[in-house]
Amino acid sequence: MSGFENGVALVTGAGSGLARGVVLEFVRGGCVKIVAADIIPERLAETAKLVSEINPAARVITVPTDVTNATQVQNMVDTAVKEFGRIDYSVHCAGITGGAARTDEMATEEFDRVTGVNLRGLWLCEKAVLGQMKTQEPRKLSNGTSARGAVVNMSSVLGLVGYRVQSPYVVSKHGVLGLTKADAVDYAADGIRVNAVCPGIVRTNLLPEGAWEHMGAFIETLPMQRLGLIEEVAAAVCFLASDKASFITGTMLPVDGGYCCV
Ligand SMILES: NC(=O)c1ccc[n+]([C@@H]2O[C@H](COP(=O)([O-])OP(=O)(O)OC[C@H]3O[C@@H](n4cnc5c(N)ncnc54)[C@H](O)[C@@H]3O)[C@@H](O)[C@H]2O)c1
Repeated sequence: MSGFENGVALVTGAGSGLARGVVLEFVRGGCVKIVAADIIPERLAETAKLVSEINPAARVITVPTDVTNATQVQNMVDTAVKEFGRIDYSVHCAGITGGAARTDEMATEEFDRVTGVNLRGLWLCEKAVLGQMKTQEPRKLSNGTSARGAVVNMSSVLGLVGYRVQSPYVVSKHGVLGLTKADAVDYAADGIRVNAVCPGIVRTNLLPEGAWEHMGAFIETLPMQRLGLIEEVAAAVCFLASDKASFITGTMLPVDGGYCCV
């Protein structure tokens, strides 16, 4: 994909997994102005190194950010604007899973912890990013329309269907889709699109190493009978962020090998 040459991309959770894949896909698509945020700063250095291997001319600003902290989130946005003047694409991926228990056995603190990152944290990112995007000059697109910005939120197939003993995660990912639709409506007239991607199962650092080994039998039951690739999710994210998706807002795109069809 190309077309990101003149834009500024911000990605949260960019030290690992899907978000790192999104950063690299933006760079492969020509983006040379990137803000990469994560709660673990050391991971961001590795992301920046991988970027420079694709395009040494690309500039990556790494901003250690805990998305649950409103001040840090605002600092992330302010840093992006100070360095690059605007934010054209904002991808919100920072996320965690929680312990396994049914709701009545789940600690309330665990609900707060998981939804605090995945939903409240993502909401804080949208709040700061949309506040910036709505003040920016619209950018002219090659099809004659114009846009102030595009947001892509990371939900999950578990934003569309339930799953056992993970209610805080399922709640958070359904909530991300609600927020996506609400903000798509509220910001369409400002020239800002807001969409979400719903990945199926992709091997990342989201689960502890051993957890993936136990998934074989479950994966066999899914239509495509395999894990997704980081690149497959990143391609969908970057499509929704791109000018090619200029009439798409408020949508939820499963990238799940058919997980939600059965
Ligand atoms: N891997 C999958 O199968 C899968 C499927 C569906 C959805 N997702 C979603 O994709 C997103 C990315 O997950 P991943 O699979 O790449 O996992 P990952 O663990 O590899 O990456 C998540 C990143 O988010 C960062 N992070 C965690 N808490 C943070 C915080 N408070 N502030 C800032 N950064 C924080 C982590 O440090 C990590 O670098 C998550 O929202 C996850 O729920 C993943």
